[in-house]
Amino acid sequence: MADIPFPERLLSGPPLDAGLESFLDQSSRLGPVPGPGDVERLITTLEASELLGRGGAGFPVGRKWRAIAERQGPPAVVVVNGAEGEPASGKDRAIMAARPHLVIDGAILAAEAIGADEILFYVGREHEVAVAAMAAAIGERATSQRRPMRLVQAPLGYVAGEASAAVNYLNTGNARPTTSPPRVSERGVKGRPTLVQNVESLAYAALIARFGDGWYRSMGRSESPGTALVTVTGVGRHQGVREIELGTTVGEIAASVGASAFDVRAVVMGGYFGTWAPAADAWHMPLDPAVMKAHGLAFGCGIVGLLQNDVCGVSATAEIMAFMAAESAGQCGPCVHGLRAIGSTTRRVAEGSGRAGDLRDLERWTTQIPGRGACRHPDGAIQLMTSALNTFGEEFAHHARTGRCAITGSRIEAA
Ligand SMILES: Cc1cc2nc3c(=O)[nH]c(=O)nc-3n(C[C@H](O)[C@H](O)[C@H](O)COP(=O)(O)O)c2cc1C
Ligand code: SF4
Repeated sequence: MADIPFPERLLSGPPLDAGLESFLDQSSRLGPVPGPGDVERLITTLEASELLGRGGAGFPVGRKWRAIAERQGPPAVVVVNGAEGEPASGKDRAIMAARPHLVIDGAILAAEAIGADEILFYVGREHEVAVAAMAAAIGERATSQRRPMRLVQAPLGYVAGEASAAVNYLNTGNARPTTSPPRVSERGVKGRPTLVQNVESLAYAALIARFGDGWYRSMGRSESPGTALVTVTGVGRHQGVREIELGTTVGEIAASVGASAFDVRAVVMGGYFGTWAPAADAWHMPLDPAVMKAHGLAFGCGIVGLLQNDVCGVSATAEIMAFMAAESAGQCGPCVHGLRAIGSTTRRVAEGSGRAGDLRDLERWTTQIPGRGACRHPDGAIQLMTSALNTFGEEFAHHARTGRCAITGSRIEAA
């Protein structure tokens, strides 16, 4: 855990499309897996690095490890979250496919730190390349590990990656979220304290354990230190996953995929749980969790979705809301009925067959649904919807009033 300057980043080394980096290759490039050494020192280093979780909520990783490490009771369990049900995201499957051993290193260190005797890798079954890479890498490491490591294919579905849904699936085969309390960190897999941690978070933890918190904090261009993976979609010839210094602006990221300010009219930041903003407002926004939070935005799982100039924002929102409604796990009334109503109403407005009162209803529902589900699925969906009404307000009104799209100029026929 030497605190040395080191030029490595998560995506240094072979390019992402080169396939799985073997354990031998990774060891000769990055050095051996650090031993857990002094567990207190490992956790302190992670805390000092200010690494935030990359599954969406941005909770400090070191603080999460400490909370479980300091509890009394039975051995804990580590669940490595590689479900990646977010359709716009590609970074988790990319890191699992290319750097599975770094994810495993992070999981082993986490297990040492929190006193876990089992590691479960929960990987979205639709991400076939990532599943194969993780299976091969776990096979390569299993014999040298004293605690069992097992790969479990997560079922399809957005909600299946939510922490309590993952734990429920591992316990019962049902990937629906459960109510909290108890938190999974108190009673999770087999009733034991469980750390659910995103794959990217663990890969960074493995690097911080090698190179020190100072190495991580030496990167970053505004308030939050470090680098992060982002997925850029929508516009540009080179869309996909890249690693950025936190604080890089949306405009710079767009330029890196070949998109200019003239191509883009709005940006959705953070994914389907995230926030729309007009391109003019988003362009100079640093992708930095602290700065974004201060502006009412979320870094989320690092999605930068660029909406092309000639694409209708109402239709783009209708698609997302239909998806979010369909992905409700079907057990909390406000989530099931509320998201369904928002999804169908937004679609009607997008298709030009809106009714009087539709926009008023949409506004009202966005204030009634948040906080009323067992998980944050409806809250995320409502955040996206609220930002759409703010960003595309005139477009929504034009659709509702005229049945035409102000952007495409077309009369829209209801499907
Ligand atoms: C509806 C929903 C879906 C989620 N899906 C994922 C997912 O696919 N992968 C993931 O790592 N976290 C997902 N999360 C966040 C997890 O609940 C959890 O916070 C995360 O895995 C913790 O890891 P982190 O602290 O490293 O971010 C989701 C949360 C919600 C509310
Ligand atoms: S809030 Fe929605 S997604 Fe979450 S558990 Fe309830 S019904 Fe399922």
